[in-house]
Amino acid sequence: MSEVVFIGMDLGTSRTSITTSTGVRTTVWSYVGYAQDHVSRKHLGGREKVFGEEAVQNRMAVDLVRPLDKGVICDDEKSKQAVRDLLEYVIEQADIPSGSTIYGVIGAPAEASVDSKAHILEAASEFMDSIVVCSEPFAVAYGLDFLADTLVVDIGAGTVDLCRVHGTMPKPEDQRTHHFAGDAIDNKLVELLTKNHPDADFSTNMVREIKEFHACVGAHMDPVKVTFPVQGKPTEFDITAEVSEACSAIVTPTVEALQDLIATFDPEFQQKMRNHVLLGGGGSQITGLSRAFEDALVEYGGGKVRTVEEPQYAGSNGALKIALDMPEDFWQEFIEEQSQEA
Ligand SMILES: Nc1ncnc2c1ncn2[C@@H]1O[C@H](COP(=O)(O)OP(=O)(O)OP(=O)(O)O)[C@@H](O)[C@H]1O
Ligand SMILES: [Mg+2]
Repeated sequence: MSEVVFIGMDLGTSRTSITTSTGVRTTVWSYVGYAQDHVSRKHLGGREKVFGEEAVQNRMAVDLVRPLDKGVICDDEKSKQAVRDLLEYVIEQADIPSGSTIYGVIGAPAEASVDSKAHILEAASEFMDSIVVCSEPFAVAYGLDFLADTLVVDIGAGTVDLCRVHGTMPKPEDQRTHHFAGDAIDNKLVELLTKNHPDADFSTNMVREIKEFHACVGAHMDPVKVTFPVQGKPTEFDITAEVSEACSAIVTPTVEALQDLIATFDPEFQQKMRNHVLLGGGGSQITGLSRAFEDALVEYGGGKVRTVEEPQYAGSNGALKIALDMPEDFWQEFIEEQSQEA
């Protein structure tokens, strides 16, 4: 058999990352842009499609598809095609020697890993020889060796996925998802700014950038001063209160889901789990968030909340580790099943 390359992938609503056993890791925004006509093709240097940041920057000239909007693969042909194209592109970026046998683990938002699993498998099997799809928070926990009585909270763009990890592959009842995640914070911030500063001109992309730079919850927050045009004239605004309010809105739904997962677990281990809460995903970088969760957990008996060190790669690193630990028989079984179906 040709040389085996293992890959771990985190297929996210806003970002897709890959880590390989050949030592490559890279990340791309989960967007695909398709040329609209021959002018736009020319503008793209003769290319039919562009990916990631380049697709977003050219959004006026392309049909921009974000295939995993709201944490699931949208059920239309365009999105399905875009998932396939995105996977192809990300794998190309990993520079895997041609002719290698590729075994991959793909971590996806919890709902997509169940509802869109068949589609992810179908799209990925064009580029990989054997594949496992798992929920992303589980991949995060696995990567950090937190396999016993841990609660992982993955704060992404489309969803906040919570997963109880207790020594086995998680089952549906070990997971909860809610939709007040990074995108919802952006929308809330846009809404507050529109209400409080009706003259200011800004786009959702600008607001997201501001959030990523200044996101903070809690009482001790540095002032957030930004410049927006007012009728074309750059004008400074203090938006500290709006940023704090929009970011804080994530706390209550997340702590409720957390408490629900803890309360339905074996009572003997509930306290242990509360003391082992792990935050991952881009949204975990909101300053003060772990403290805000700890404060909210006090009324349920308290807890300890930590943030993973590399939110950008924690999912794909963990997925690679699952791939490396998977027995060879398992990969072979998948290959045999595929060839029987074909
Ligand atoms: N420094 C930061 N502070 C606050 N939020 C941030 C920061 N950096 C990124 N984000 C937000 O994190 C979210 C993206 O997180 P991540 O890359 O984990 O999402 P994803 O995996 O693509 O989404 P999902 O898991 O929902 O599919 C976006 O909403 C982004 O604005
Ligand atoms: Mg994610």
